[in-house]
Amino acid sequence: MPKQTNFFTKHLMEWTAANPRPLPWKATQNAYHIWLSEIILQQTRVEQGTPYYHKFINAYPSITDLANAPADEVMRLWEGLGYYSRARNLHAAAKYVADELNGIFPSTHEEIKKLKGVGPYTAAAIASFAYNLPYSVVDGNVYRVLSRFFGIETPIDTTIGKKEFAQLAQEALHKKDPATYNQAIMNFGALQCKPANPLCEVCPLQKKCVAFKTDKIGLLPIKSKKIKRTERFFNYLLIQPLKKENQVFISKRLAKDIWQNLYEFPLIETKELLTQQELLAHPSFNLLINNTSKIKQVQSSKSYKQQLTHQKINAQFFVITLPQKYISASATKQWQLITKKEMDNYAFPRIVNSFLENQHTSGNKQLLLNL
Ligand code: ADE
Ligand code: SF4
Repeated sequence: MPKQTNFFTKHLMEWTAANPRPLPWKATQNAYHIWLSEIILQQTRVEQGTPYYHKFINAYPSITDLANAPADEVMRLWEGLGYYSRARNLHAAAKYVADELNGIFPSTHEEIKKLKGVGPYTAAAIASFAYNLPYSVVDGNVYRVLSRFFGIETPIDTTIGKKEFAQLAQEALHKKDPATYNQAIMNFGALQCKPANPLCEVCPLQKKCVAFKTDKIGLLPIKSKKIKRTERFFNYLLIQPLKKENQVFISKRLAKDIWQNLYEFPLIETKELLTQQELLAHPSFNLLINNTSKIKQVQSSKSYKQQLTHQKINAQFFVITLPQKYISASATKQWQLITKKEMDNYAFPRIVNSFLENQHTSGNKQLLLNL
C-alpha cells in the first residue's frame, strides 16, 4: 500500500481549519516574538507559558532590550518555568543577535539554527512561522502522531528511527503553507492524538490510521530504552544569624548540574534525607558550623518532592538560628547574607518556592521565614 501522506496532510489541514487555536504569537510575524514563544514552549504547556510570553515582551519589547537586561533579572522573570538553561541560552542568543547581527533576527534556517538553545525543532518552527520556509517540525508530539497514523514501529530513540521520522515528516509537510501545517500537527498532537486517551472516535484521520485499525494506539510510538530516573536528597539549611532573624544565607548554584545559576539555601546532599541528629553530626555540617553546641534552635520541615525529567528531588529544610560568629569563614565566603525582603530579587527552584509558600499563604517571600 502506498504511504498515505497526501491523505494525512489534506485531512490535517482541514482539521486545523475547523479547529482554530488562537495563540498570541500566531498573530505576529515578529521573528523575535516567535522565537521567544518557541523557547518558552520547548518544555512548557501553552497554558502555563502564555503569561510568561506576555511578561517577556512587555519587559523587553525588542531583542536588544532583552540583550541589555541584567542576567539575574532575566532569570527572575523566568522563575517558575523550569529548565533554566533555556533562560540562559535565550539571554546569550539575544546578546549575539544584538552584538553580531545588529539586532536583526536571522532569517534563514541555517542562521536560526546557530542560535544558542535553538535545536532542529525550534529552528523549523521559527523558520516556518516567521518566514514560511518549508521545514517540518519533529518532536514527541510529531513522533506520536506519525507513528500511529502510519503504523511505524521503528524506535524513536534510535539513529535510524530519527532519520525515518524526519524524512516522513518532511514528506508530509504542506510545502505551500508550512506554517499552518506545523502549527496543525503540534495542535493535533496536543489536542486530538493525545498520549493517553486520544480522541479516535472523532478523528478525521481514523479511516486510514494504522494504529487505530490494528489496535496499536497504546503501543506507539515505540522507545528502545526506558529513561533511568535517579533519586536525590537535598538537605537545605536556612541559617539565620541570631538577632538578625530577618536575614538568611542563600547561595547560587554554579555547577553544571540541575538549576544552574538559580539560588537556593546552603545545601548538604546525601543518600537519604537526614534527621536533626544526623545533620548535627554530619561532617559537612561541621565544616560549615564551628560549634554546633551553640545552635539556639533547629526546626525541620516535612519533605518536599519535585520530579524532573531524569531525576526525582527530595528536599527537607532545616531552619537554624545561631550567633553569626559560629558560622565558618569558608561557609560565609560561598554564601550571600540577604534580608528576607531581598529574596524577591532572586530566582529559586520550584521546590524551594513550594517550601517558602507553605510557610505562609500570603505568597510574600519576605515574611515566609518567620516560622
Ligand atoms: N509547542 C511548541 N511550539 C508550539 C506552538 N507554536 N504552539 C503550540 N504548542 C507549541
Ligand atoms: Fe491518533 Fe486515533 Fe486519530 Fe489515529 S485515529 S490519528 S490514533 S487520534
